[in-house]
Amino acid sequence: MSTEAAAGTPKSEGWEPNILAFCCNWCSYAGADLAGVSRFQYPPTVKVLRVMCSSRVEPAFILKALKDGADGVLVAGCHIGDCHYIDGNKNAEVRINNTKKALEKLGFDKRLRLEWISASEGLRFSEVIRNFTEEIKKLGQNPVKKPQINADERRLDTSDISVNMRSIANVQGSEVK
Ligand code: FES
Repeated sequence: MSTEAAAGTPKSEGWEPNILAFCCNWCSYAGADLAGVSRFQYPPTVKVLRVMCSSRVEPAFILKALKDGADGVLVAGCHIGDCHYIDGNKNAEVRINNTKKALEKLGFDKRLRLEWISASEGLRFSEVIRNFTEEIKKLGQNPVKKPQINADERRLDTSDISVNMRSIANVQGSEVK
């Protein structure tokens, strides 16, 4: 798949980006909770997935989400110095940056974002989601789920990205199922 093709596809009428947010249990998930309790507005199309630490998010999880059609993937953890597993978020930062570099080749790097959000930052959580949603809207839908291509092309497209992502995952030491 070309970088141009991966960078953006025509926007569908009424389309809202599908964002998967991996949030660490101790800070960002609580921040998301606070955003809800405080009624800070953010797009309802975000799906929050709780993990114990941002370092738990393997490149293979991100690749699978994108391969399965997520328009964007957010990884959110505690601020540097606040990770409950000491250096988990520092490790996550290295890992996510490496994954972004690998995704650059496919034109998917802007669909992945890493943010630090504490338990008291409900407002920040809603702002990050709103901002990321706007960025993804500019990129368009994830081309893996491009609706206007026929079944044969879709099979080709998916296998192409599958092969590329598998090679990236192998570099990262994980495997995409
Ligand atoms: S526990 Fe929150 S990033 Fe590690």
